[in-house]
Amino acid sequence: MTDRKGLILAGGTGSRLWPITQGISKQLMPIYDKPMIYYPLSVLMLAGIRDIGIITTPADQAQFQNLLGDGSQWGLSITWLVQPKPEGLAQAYLVGEAFLDGAPSAMVLGDNIFFGHGLPEMLAAADAKPDGGTVFGYRVSDPERYGVVGMDADGKVTQIIEKPAVPPSPYAVTGLYFLDGTAPARARSITPSARGELEITALLETYLADGSLTVERMGRGYAWLDTGTHGSLLDAGNFVRTLQSRQGMQTGCPEEVAYLQGWIDDAALLDLADRYEKTEYGAYLRGLQGTRGM
Ligand code: TTP
Repeated sequence: MTDRKGLILAGGTGSRLWPITQGISKQLMPIYDKPMIYYPLSVLMLAGIRDIGIITTPADQAQFQNLLGDGSQWGLSITWLVQPKPEGLAQAYLVGEAFLDGAPSAMVLGDNIFFGHGLPEMLAAADAKPDGGTVFGYRVSDPERYGVVGMDADGKVTQIIEKPAVPPSPYAVTGLYFLDGTAPARARSITPSARGELEITALLETYLADGSLTVERMGRGYAWLDTGTHGSLLDAGNFVRTLQSRQGMQTGCPEEVAYLQGWIDDAALLDLADRYEKTEYGAYLRGLQGTRGM
């Protein structure tokens, strides 16, 4: 484990979810039984990251703080950051520059949901590289909607292109980026795109130009879910419900990850379970007691 810090970008306008998100942040919407932000937060925690900056809009910050506090209940340290306007994903590194203080980072979009066997190992491999950047490619049926990775026959990245009319591959770049400590300086060097945003693809291109960008492909055993539209939000909730009820296990449960990582003890786990005694979630937390290392 390195000194890597985490960033969750949870601002934005959520305009594709209006009218719902006119009154509440998209990343506080439920994905079945948990707020959306629990899922990307759990991914950072699975990567062993405890020092996490959460970026919200100015208006939504208080609600996120009500939900997550300072993170100490889960053995985390949360720093609250604000993005005044949604001016692009790469802006996260400018908003987070002082917080990162030169450290390498893992940045995840607050509306991205990942699930898959081997995810902790994949995260650990990315974490182990202190220099350069790692992004995760996921095969999709509609790559023209995403940032897409072009690769040569050896799997080496040749280009990263935003919403290409003719995609060079079916691999979309997911919303999880492991970048080294130079990311904020690089983000300062790029100029806004035609739509007025600091594009993450432009930032990744600087790593590509240096030959220091790696793409890990998430294979067919993974799910990378979109939550940006009414239909995909419901689909993601149904996916989580189906999976959890079939397996009897949670996905995206920060308490569980904290407990398995050894960041909270049995007493703290039971205390958290007591808060939710009327729910299956609370019963699940209670049942985790003694499962560490199993
Ligand atoms: P998007 O889904 O691209 O944008 P959005 O959430 O504002 O939604 P819509 O397109 O419906 O208006 O954003 C992806 C994620 O990144 C999401 O979690 C919000 C976050 N985000 C920011 O926090 N700041 C930004 O400047 C942008 C562009 C996105």
